[in-house]
Amino acid sequence: MASPAQLCFFLFILVSAAAVVSATDHIVGANKGWNPGINYTLWANNQTFYVGDLISFRYQKTMYNVFEVNQTGYDNCTTEGAVGNWTSGKDFILLNETKRYYFIGGNGQCFNGMKVSVLVHALLSPPSSAATANSSSSAQRIHEVGRFMGLRANVVAIVLGALIWFGSSLI
Ligand SMILES: *[C@@H]1O[C@H](CO)[C@@H](O)[C@H](O)[C@H]1NC(C)=O
Ligand SMILES: *[C@@H]1O[C@H](CO)[C@@H](O)[C@H](O)[C@H]1NC(C)=O
Ligand SMILES: *[C@@H]1O[C@H](CO)[C@@H](O)[C@H](O)[C@H]1NC(C)=O
Ligand SMILES: *[C@@H]1O[C@H](CO)[C@@H](O)[C@H](O)[C@H]1NC(C)=O
Ligand SMILES: *[C@@H]1O[C@H](CO)[C@@H](O)[C@H](O)[C@H]1NC(C)=O
Ligand SMILES: *[C@@H]1O[C@H](CO)[C@@H](O)[C@H](O)[C@H]1NC(C)=O
Ligand SMILES: *[C@@H]1O[C@H](CO)[C@@H](O)[C@H](O)[C@H]1NC(C)=O
Repeated sequence: MASPAQLCFFLFILVSAAAVVSATDHIVGANKGWNPGINYTLWANNQTFYVGDLISFRYQKTMYNVFEVNQTGYDNCTTEGAVGNWTSGKDFILLNETKRYYFIGGNGQCFNGMKVSVLVHALLSPPSSAATANSSSSAQRIHEVGRFMGLRANVVAIVLGALIWFGSSLI
């Protein structure tokens, strides 16, 4: 029989798995990080952002920084009226709203390409008659539903592993 300690551990695994679902960390520029001369539009176009995800900026903190601005700040590379600023060199920013976010580098680095905008989607977007007619949009929606239910491969693997471990402890 499973002991109470084993049951607690099993629950802990499940809760941890649920936590993994809610926090995808999008590392800006992937292994290139936050540096001048990179087209971050290409990077942003290659992934999908959902509410609750993190975006993280990795850079040399003595040289660069991060400002969250509005569209005007993004288009004109100005940090006046910035919504937020980060300087740690490894900044994790929670994307907690369904909107387009704009981030730029200060000290003129925005003009050297250090600017990125990301569109954050709701986990379950309301159906729109135009969008549902498109198969690509349907695929997107299925992905969102699957994600909402926690059906992501890494999570499934963790849960399956826990179930197998738990099952074997009953024998
Ligand atoms: C970055 O790539 C996008 C998409 O191909 C393109 O529209 C844009 O002009 C590029 N930006 C720069 C600064 O090269
Ligand atoms: C897009 O993402 C895939 C998988 O994460 C990666 O292999 C590929 O290099 C990326 N392409 C660009 C242009 O960043
Ligand atoms: C942004 O720059 C454009 C031209 O570069 C200018 O016409 C516009 O007034 C600027 N907007 C703000 C809010 O500074
Ligand atoms: C962005 O913020 C600046 C400064 O607060 C403001 O003047 C400008 O109108 C804002 N632009 C938009 C598109 O909200
Ligand atoms: C950065 O943000 C802090 C508040 O978090 C603010 O006090 C400070 O003035 C900001 N710095 C700049 C350069 O905008
Ligand atoms: C998102 O986070 C920001 C900064 O922490 C906060 O000001 C804002 O109220 C939050 N929005 C929601 C919808 O929770
Ligand atoms: C649906 O797809 C067609 C082309 O396949 C495109 O022209 C149209 O803009 C798309 N509509 C939406 C709402 O995405």
